[in-house]
Amino acid sequence: MTKVAIIGAGPCGLSMLRAFEQAEKKGEKIPEIVCFDKQDDWGGLWNYSWRTGSDQYGDPVPNSMYRYLWSNGPKECLEFADYSFDEHFGKPIPSFPPREVLYDYILGRVKKGSLKDKVKFNHTVTNTLFDGEKFEVTYRDKKNNQTSKDIFDYVVVSTGHFSVPFIPEYPGMKSFPGRIMHSHDFRDAEEFRGKNVIVLGSSYSAEDVALQCHKYGAKSVTIGYRHNPMGFKWPKGMKEVYHLDRLEGNKAIFKDGHEQEADAVILCTGYLHHFPFLSENLKLQTHNRLYPPKLYKGVVWENNHKLMYLGMQDQFHTFNMFDCQAWFARDVIMGKITIPSETDIKNDINKWVSMEEKLENPDQMIDFQTEYTKELHSLSDYPKIDFELIRKNFKEWEHHKVEDIMTYRNKSFSSPVTGSIGPVHHTPWETAMDDSLKTFLNK
Ligand SMILES: Cc1cc2nc3c(=O)[nH]c(=O)nc-3n(C[C@H](O)[C@H](O)[C@H](O)COP(=O)(O)OP(=O)(O)OC[C@H]3O[C@@H](n4cnc5c(N)ncnc54)[C@H](O)[C@@H]3O)c2cc1C
Ligand SMILES: NC(=O)c1ccc[n+]([C@@H]2O[C@H](COP(=O)([O-])OP(=O)(O)OC[C@H]3O[C@@H](n4cnc5c(N)ncnc54)[C@H](OP(=O)(O)O)[C@@H]3O)[C@@H](O)[C@H]2O)c1
Repeated sequence: MTKVAIIGAGPCGLSMLRAFEQAEKKGEKIPEIVCFDKQDDWGGLWNYSWRTGSDQYGDPVPNSMYRYLWSNGPKECLEFADYSFDEHFGKPIPSFPPREVLYDYILGRVKKGSLKDKVKFNHTVTNTLFDGEKFEVTYRDKKNNQTSKDIFDYVVVSTGHFSVPFIPEYPGMKSFPGRIMHSHDFRDAEEFRGKNVIVLGSSYSAEDVALQCHKYGAKSVTIGYRHNPMGFKWPKGMKEVYHLDRLEGNKAIFKDGHEQEADAVILCTGYLHHFPFLSENLKLQTHNRLYPPKLYKGVVWENNHKLMYLGMQDQFHTFNMFDCQAWFARDVIMGKITIPSETDIKNDINKWVSMEEKLENPDQMIDFQTEYTKELHSLSDYPKIDFELIRKNFKEWEHHKVEDIMTYRNKSFSSPVTGSIGPVHHTPWETAMDDSLKTFLNK
């Protein structure tokens, strides 16, 4: 019997489990599956952890989520085609849910069956070798401190790529009297109430961590971008300046001459694709981009078609794209999709990579990832979902952010699955301090 290892039970790993479950429900004979996750429960980043640094077994904490995180895109862009928000919550809910609500939704469809039995929690995959025919996967049972090996025909890497922080160094850091941290370790903006905070970066973490600090009462928030500013209309108390040059004492000095007293520096400088558990010849090497090379259809490792990667792209689309990838991977594993010749694979990858390299603005990037997801969708029986509406929702969302970065989360969108419209939330995001599921859904 074919045996498949799924490494990681975050949203991508859960998509993979769900894909197999759906095939089985249709009466198809599915392979034997073992899913490993080094955390004690499933949900990946959405399984919030207060911990930073190492866990109780000495493993680095993979989690990068913080308290008070709200979805930064409309939920109508990430909805599962086979499990709508309306079905899960029994009623339409607002378009920008906090973490706990999305976590509940992600788990809803996998909790119903017996999928959890397929996951070995507190098990870290430490090594994966390929002998030309099969994979040897080594894993550590963290609780019992026991290492074992097993043989698999296929390996699916769904370990995420927002867990290992990229941490640059700037002059003056060693003698800075305040706190320096990466967004990976950011948990609670309350810590920065009344403080002067420097945020470095110009992507989603920089944007949202800066906004969180402002929302929870930081005295000032200064964002230092390196290449391009985000350029939003920041509220009073926030500003965006050009590139940190150095720290001198407690002063941050930027390359545009701007100086700011600082109590804390938060490095929102992104993450590394890091796969210490794969042998060198199996490792994807990429930065955070929309089409990492060497992946056929963004999924199948070019040099070894028994190795799949899920969710390795930079992400506009998330959960339904992960599903499309998982359904595709499943059908490759089950022999329903034939992998073409080496030349065709190369041409296909090159086509996408060269298109990606020409993208100039967010609208084009949204189009690119929507086209990619649509193509994948057409290759499997993943249920119908309105990608044109998702494309439109994403573009409207981008424009809402440009109009007002403080209010974009108060807007409503319509569902690509049920067509229902997300009601306006009872409290505008800026003043909604209680992000619990209960308050979000009921108050
Ligand atoms: C701060 C932050 C906020 C985000 N907010 C949003 C948002 O609002 N909306 C959105 O759609 N997306 C958001 N994302 C994007 C996020 O990437 C996806 O939502 C999603 O979590 C990706 O799923 P994944 O399964 O690829 O990875 P992850 O969620 O990272 O899950 C990977 C899993 O693999 C396990 N694992 C890793 N290595 C091993 C190993 N060697 N052995 C065993 N298990 C292993 C980990 O324990 C983890 O459970 C956010 C990301 C970050 C960092
Ligand atoms: N729900 C939410 O609200 C929320 C919040 C946070 C994060 N997220 C998600 O988390 C994921 C990761 O986002 P991310 O922003 O952490 O990573 P990212 O998108 O990869 O961005 C990394 C950023 O780091 C900057 N950078 C790198 N090195 C730097 C340096 N030496 N000095 C200054 N800046 C530097 C980059 O700037 P250059 O452009 O100059 O290279 C870029 O802006 C995304 O999927 C995002 O959606 C979501």
